[in-house]
Amino acid sequence: MRRFGVTVTGTGSYTPERVLTNHDLEKMVDTSDEWIRARTGILERRIAAPEQTSSDLACRAAEKALTMAETKADDLDLIIVATLSPDRPFPNTACFVQRKLQADQAACFSLEAACSGFIYAFQVAGGLIRDGVCRKALVVGAEKISMHVDWTDRNTCVLFGDGAGAVILEATEPENDIALAAEMGSDGTLTDLLTVRGGGSENPPGPEILKQRSHYLTMEGREVFKLAVNAMVNSASSTLNKANISSEQLKWLVPHQANIRIVQAVGKRLGIANGNVYMNLHKYGNTSAATIPICLDEMNRGEQLQSGDYVLMVSFGAGLTWGSVLLQWP
Ligand code: COA
Repeated sequence: MRRFGVTVTGTGSYTPERVLTNHDLEKMVDTSDEWIRARTGILERRIAAPEQTSSDLACRAAEKALTMAETKADDLDLIIVATLSPDRPFPNTACFVQRKLQADQAACFSLEAACSGFIYAFQVAGGLIRDGVCRKALVVGAEKISMHVDWTDRNTCVLFGDGAGAVILEATEPENDIALAAEMGSDGTLTDLLTVRGGGSENPPGPEILKQRSHYLTMEGREVFKLAVNAMVNSASSTLNKANISSEQLKWLVPHQANIRIVQAVGKRLGIANGNVYMNLHKYGNTSAATIPICLDEMNRGEQLQSGDYVLMVSFGAGLTWGSVLLQWP
């Protein structure tokens, strides 16, 4: 039996000021606004300033979430930052967030599950709260993914953007737990489909890496597209089945924002009307671990989430990794 339940008391998000439009990209690579809109649904994305780090983005989102939750940073006892663009290889990005927020009482770690990072971190924080290890957690998806993007590669550079989204999770009574069911999975046989090959222990940083440009991400777009749709549909269906909730009962599907065609295909296969599938990728592109918490914050502040609504978050990312969580909004 659960000792505690978990609830959300605050959300926050931040996207950098600099807007990079499709027309800007037309001047950088052989592409067109028309192609990007039609093939991805993205109109523009935000790019962090050179001096801005992922922890800076995380803190801006976290401060808003803390204010909404009426919580002081030093009341937090856990900070998890989901990111594939850490400030440094180590120490972990959550420790930088801790220092900047002065959240002195928190245990801090980062979690890397690419675009599924926020869903994974949400689950881990929830487990620690349910077990009574922690009572008040800050969970952030924060990405300066522009650091991994090859701005001469039209196959990938049009897709991504920087940003951060945060939630405050708190212990509550077990019967008030907002997470009704969840599912997570990975396929490590497909590590090479979407990856950064250089700069880790396999190919440590050095002049060769820069010469080969292997510090930039590469992707088999068509293959990833098909796998993303299947994995998100299967994960979402499994979570709905576990909770015995039908897709018609959902107020919102909140999918990872990678490509409008992926998102619409997932909604269609689950039998969810377009109006119930939340989308903001036209403004931000794919911000990796930050997409879902940015959506949640926009929806929350836009009063599109009412108490009792069923909200299904579903993600997919490099690894491969995927996962979903069904919430009943508090
Ligand atoms: N502008 C213009 N043309 C482009 C282009 C761009 N930015 N990027 C690719 N193309 C070209 C290709 O070179 C190809 O040309 P060719 O037929 O002469 O070889 C053509 O467009 C079609 O390429 P294709 O890969 O079939 O396009 P697509 O419809 O699959 O769309 C993606 C490409 C990348 C948008 C799509 O595959 C996708 O979204 N994949 C998943 C990406 C993703 O979500 N990744 C993150 C998961 S977390």
